[in-house]
Amino acid sequence: MQILLLGSGGREHAFALKIAQSKQCTHLFIAPGNPGTAALGTNVDIAATDFPAIKKFVVENAINFVIVGPEAPLVAGIYDYFKSDEVLKNIPVFGPSQKGAQLEGSKAFSKAFMLRHQIPTAAYAEFTLQNKEEGLQYIEQQQTPIVLKADGLAAGKGVLICATIEEAKSEFNQMLDGKFGDASAKVVIEEFMDGIEFSVFVLTNGTEYKILPTAKDYKRIGEGDTGLNTGGMGAVSPPAFVTNEMIQIVESTIVQPTIAGLQKDDIEYIGFVYVGLMYLKTGELKVVEYNCRMGDPETEAVFPRWKNDIIETFQATIQQQLNSINLEIDERAATTIILASGGYPETFEKGKVITGINTIEDSIVFHCGTKLVDGDTNQEVQLVTNGGRVLAVTSLHKDWKQATQISNKNAEKIAFEGRYYRRDIGFDL
Ligand code: AMP
Ligand code: GLY
Repeated sequence: MQILLLGSGGREHAFALKIAQSKQCTHLFIAPGNPGTAALGTNVDIAATDFPAIKKFVVENAINFVIVGPEAPLVAGIYDYFKSDEVLKNIPVFGPSQKGAQLEGSKAFSKAFMLRHQIPTAAYAEFTLQNKEEGLQYIEQQQTPIVLKADGLAAGKGVLICATIEEAKSEFNQMLDGKFGDASAKVVIEEFMDGIEFSVFVLTNGTEYKILPTAKDYKRIGEGDTGLNTGGMGAVSPPAFVTNEMIQIVESTIVQPTIAGLQKDDIEYIGFVYVGLMYLKTGELKVVEYNCRMGDPETEAVFPRWKNDIIETFQATIQQQLNSINLEIDERAATTIILASGGYPETFEKGKVITGINTIEDSIVFHCGTKLVDGDTNQEVQLVTNGGRVLAVTSLHKDWKQATQISNKNAEKIAFEGRYYRRDIGFDL
């Protein structure tokens, strides 16, 4: 099979590694990819959301399978674009329909979905400029902290946890006034859930499903979970506190009703449902959010533990034969540590020379935000930083603490100016 993978981060490098290992893959193209994916296939300079350019490339290169990494093309409707195109309609896209992607693309949609299908989640209400006064009154009746969420995609920044009623009212006003652009034209106000988060990743075709290994990511920039939110500074799979019994409860009270809900609502869904969960102090398990894709950096921790041929598994998913697949999982734990640019998630510089990757032996290094440039002598090429999150270092060990130590040791060996990473990934487990 000639495969096209869309995306350019560490998640896509982890996908590319599994795809390149598949017996079914004759050639892998990645649009736009990064220097890590370039070692596993051919990068093509097309944005993951440029549908006309993707169409042209798919036709000219006889691509017979398209796999989507990030949410943006899914929320923009790439699945439907292929299905409704005479030339593309028989080429499978591995990712949900635009309606299915609304589970991530609209918080109001996903909350209504959960309510309709009795899936446990925090109580909520939604407001726009039209009923702003009602929203302010609603806030006054809530307990603090209060959670405010921009309805639409806001690059991971659209969730605010407000300590006081006053702060919540002020933020609510700013959100409706366009703090997150169109994404906050509608605001979801939610009850705060106190507990510890983790995620399950569900592979599904809308009727059958398989649950991949669980993971926990570390979203805050600072050690001890302090400071600003980021895309994710590290991940552990599995998180030690998640028991089989908890997974069974999640399966029966959340995963099964989610899949049944997709059917009842007539939503075409092939791909991953990322279920972000809160294990509350009360012992309850509730949904924090859905995403319509795999997580980043969770994929870099989960995929190295997943042993099946990924393309055979994806084909079985599309052909409604997922139940015939036995998931094979490496029993070892995985810890992923993100190396970030100094200043991230606020302003940071790019173009810092990266050294030391070639010295790493007992970890996998995924590229997130890197670039190859001509070196000083114009002869050798150099790897430089090209994003906030630069590299992900993953290690496997039967003892997750050892896995973390190996990742820490190897993170230290990789150098670039301003390099920052959290040395406490897993501290709370
Ligand atoms: P979301 O984009 O919905 O995942 O929200 C981003 C982060 O905000 C989550 O990973 C949680 O850490 C936090 N969060 C969101 N909703 C709640 C809630 N109702 N209670 C507590 N924390 C929340
Ligand atoms: N690591 C969080 C996410 O992928 O949404």
